[in-house]
Amino acid sequence: MTDTATLTVDGQEYSLPIIEGTEGERAVDIRALRAQSGLITLDPGYGNTGSCESAITYIDGERGILRYRGIPIEQFENQPNFVEVAWLLMFGSLPDAAEYDRFSTLLTDTANIDESMKHHFQGFPRTAPPMAMLSAMINALSCFHPEFQELDDLKTFEGAAARLISKVRTIAAYAYRRTHGMPYIYPDPELRYVPNFLHMMFSQPYRQYVCDDAVRDALNLLLILHADHEQNCSTSTVRMVGSSRANLFASCAAGVCALWGPLHGGANVKVLQMLDAIHTGKMTPEEYVKLAKDKSSKVRLMGFGHRVYKSFDPRAVVLQRMAERLLSGRNDRDPLLDIARRLEEIALSDSYFVDRNLYPNVDFYSGVILRAIGIPVDMFTVIFAIGRLPGWIAQWREQNESPDARISRPRQIYTGNRETGYRSRLGSAKAG
Ligand code: ACO
Repeated sequence: MTDTATLTVDGQEYSLPIIEGTEGERAVDIRALRAQSGLITLDPGYGNTGSCESAITYIDGERGILRYRGIPIEQFENQPNFVEVAWLLMFGSLPDAAEYDRFSTLLTDTANIDESMKHHFQGFPRTAPPMAMLSAMINALSCFHPEFQELDDLKTFEGAAARLISKVRTIAAYAYRRTHGMPYIYPDPELRYVPNFLHMMFSQPYRQYVCDDAVRDALNLLLILHADHEQNCSTSTVRMVGSSRANLFASCAAGVCALWGPLHGGANVKVLQMLDAIHTGKMTPEEYVKLAKDKSSKVRLMGFGHRVYKSFDPRAVVLQRMAERLLSGRNDRDPLLDIARRLEEIALSDSYFVDRNLYPNVDFYSGVILRAIGIPVDMFTVIFAIGRLPGWIAQWREQNESPDARISRPRQIYTGNRETGYRSRLGSAKAG
C-alpha cells in the first residue's frame, strides 16, 4: 500500500505522508501542509480530523467494536469492577493485586472533601443544576490541592488521579443532597467504590443505605461502559484545555461542562423525559417517531444515532442486557423499559433510521437502569461524568506526556468583512 498521498493544487503537487494505526486505520498527515502550500483543511465538527495519536481506546464504528487498551468492553460484563478498569485506562494494563490494593486504599483514604469545601455547597441555590455544581467543585479542588498543580512523576499523578476519582463521588452526592435539602453523609471507609457512593447518596443519619449485589454490579458496569470513548466532545475538551498546561482538575472541570450538553452526556436526561412523556400519555411511541422524522419539528429520537457508530453501539447492547437482568429480578416492572423497547422496534424497522444508520446509543438504556437504582433524573449526567473521569484523566496524561503535544489551536477560514474604515455611528453620544 502507498505511504504517501499526493495533493495537486494549481498544478503544484504536494506529497503528504500516510500514517497507519495498529488496527490498520489510515490518515493523511497534514502537519506540514500549510508550511508547504499555504493551505489549511476545513472540517467543521471534526468528522474527518484526527486530533492525536492515542493508545487508550479503540472504536470501530462500522463493526460496533469498543476496546479499552485492547480489551473488548463486553468482557467486563461479568463481575464488573470500575476501579480495576479505571486503572487499566490510566496506566495501560490491568492492575495486579498489590497495585489494586494500593489504589483502592488511596481511594478510601481520600474520599472526604475539605470541610471548608463542604460549605461551598451552601452558596449554591437549592435549584442549582448538579452538573454546574460538579464542574465548579472539581475546579475548586485546584484551590485545595496546590501540590497537584504539576504532575511530573508517576506517584504524584497517581495521587492526583485517586483524589479526583474518589472525591468526585463525594461532590456528586453532596450536590444531590444540597438540592434535596438533606444532611451530608461522610464516606464510609468500610465500603467499596460504588456502595460508598450510594451510601453518601441515600443513607440518612438515622438509617444506613444497604446496597444489594445486583445494584452494585449494575452501577459498576454502567460506569465502566462510560469510562472512555476516545476523542468525543468532552474528552477533546479535556485535552484542549490540558494542552495549555492547565492542571488536571481545571481540565476535567471543563470536560464536565462539555458533557452537560443534550447532544452529548445530557442525552440520557432527554431520553428519560421522552420515555416519560410517552408514558404519561402525551404521545404514543408511533407519534414520537413520526415527530422525530419531521425536520421542521427539531425533535430527535433521543438516545438514537452516533457520530462514530454506524451499525450498533456495543455499549447499548450490554446495557439493554443489564436493564433486562436488573428489572427481571424485581416485582415492579418498569413500564419505561417496555416503551424503550417499542421505540427501538419502530425505529429499527423504519427506513428513515435504517438509511441514516441511526441505532440506540449508550444513553438509550442507561436512564432505565439509573431509575431502577433510584438515581433521580437530574443526576443522570453526573453519573456519566463519574464514569468518564478515568478516561479524561488517562487522555490528559497521555497528552501531557506526548513529545508531539502542542497547544491546541485550530485555524479558520475567515468569511467576514474585508478591511473597512472606522466611521462612528454614535453621533453626539459621549465617548465611553
Ligand atoms: N433522531 C432523528 N434524526 C436524527 C437523529 C435522531 N436521534 N440523529 C441523527 N438524525 C438525522 C439528522 O437529522 C440527519 O438527517 P439528514 O441527513 O436528513 O439531515 C442525519 O440523521 C445525520 O445526523 P447528524 O446530526 O448529521 O449526525 P451527527 O453525527 O452530527 O450527530 C448525534 C450525532 C449528535 C449523536 C445525533 O445522532 C443526535 O442528535 N442524536 C440524539 C442525541 C443523542 O442521543 N446524543 C447522545 C450521543 S452518545 C453520547 O454522546 C454519549
